Amino acid sequence: MLVLGIDTSCDDTSAAVVEDGLRIVSNIVSGQSDIHTKYGGIVPELASRQHIEMIAPVVDEALKSAGIGLSDVGAVAVCHGPGLIGSLLVGCSFAKALCYGRKIPLVAVNHLEGHLLSPFLESPQPEFPFISLVVSGGHTSLYLAEGFGVYRELGRTRDDAAGEAYDKVSKLLGLGYPGGPVIDRLAADGNPGAVDFPRAYLPDSLDFSFSGLKTAVLQHVRRQGAGIKGQQPPGLAPSVLADIAASFQAAVIDVLIRKVQWAVRQNGARQVTLAGGVAANASLRQRMKEMGVDEGVEVFIPSVPLCTDNAAMIAVAGYHRALKSEFSGPELNPAAYLPL
Ligand code: KG4
Ligand code: ZN
Repeated sequence: MLVLGIDTSCDDTSAAVVEDGLRIVSNIVSGQSDIHTKYGGIVPELASRQHIEMIAPVVDEALKSAGIGLSDVGAVAVCHGPGLIGSLLVGCSFAKALCYGRKIPLVAVNHLEGHLLSPFLESPQPEFPFISLVVSGGHTSLYLAEGFGVYRELGRTRDDAAGEAYDKVSKLLGLGYPGGPVIDRLAADGNPGAVDFPRAYLPDSLDFSFSGLKTAVLQHVRRQGAGIKGQQPPGLAPSVLADIAASFQAAVIDVLIRKVQWAVRQNGARQVTLAGGVAANASLRQRMKEMGVDEGVEVFIPSVPLCTDNAAMIAVAGYHRALKSEFSGPELNPAAYLPL
């Protein structure tokens, strides 16, 4: 079955065609970071307007590059949350109209389930049960995935998501939005041991906390005597900036890896997956692989374009829900807050 996936949860307009929940036939992503960069973060109203502009051409392009028409589509899978409500509304309204007009079954997909199932788009594929770390701009959670649609949350962030911490630290260092890729690149030239930033291990819990780390970076930068006014570059030497980026990144990754290790041991897991935008991070990918070797578990990490937001992952989750006839109707409403 060919599933047309649609995701407009945040600042990317994406549409994809996936066959049988496995094979990507097309996967189009139209990003908006050019629009939001000058504001130092996503402006929700601008994001919604851009989705309205882009949704029809992006869906057209996904169908065209798959070489199919709407009559070949077995189901439309749309992300209905969590995310920015105005952005989600655009994708949901479009998908509902398409399905109503063309009599195509509609499936609602949780964005986090999309990320969690993204490793199925490449081979080898993971096998249930596995531990999944989903690290994105809005979420940082550990799951025990026991089957399609069967996920137990083992831990989650109590404050900021890992990606949010990257974005906030990037902003306070004057490095712009989105922060993850910039800090990732900069950290490669820095010394991760230069600044001993705090690691919130939260004993006896698989929860995370990153807001203290962000504050520690801010205080460190202030102690360096650098002025931080709005988005002004703080005027630190490039090598000092690189050291701060590398040290901040090491603190985030140390905690992520330690929690995955605990989750593996507590659940006797044999496989681990990593997903979400922060899974694009070069150092995190490397450290996860090393952890896999140390713990004797197989590690699955999607290639970078499948870590950041994309509609192919939504189509995978939608396919498995369609198999169980979990369809939605025109009453489907998006939700900004939507637990998995
Ligand atoms: O999954 P995603 O594309 O959107 C959400 O669902 O939030 O994740 C976006 C987040 C942003 O916070 C971005 O800074 C972060 O992923 N990110 C990275 C990297 N690429 C994107 N974080 C660290 N290193 C990267 N290379
Ligand atoms: Zn995402």
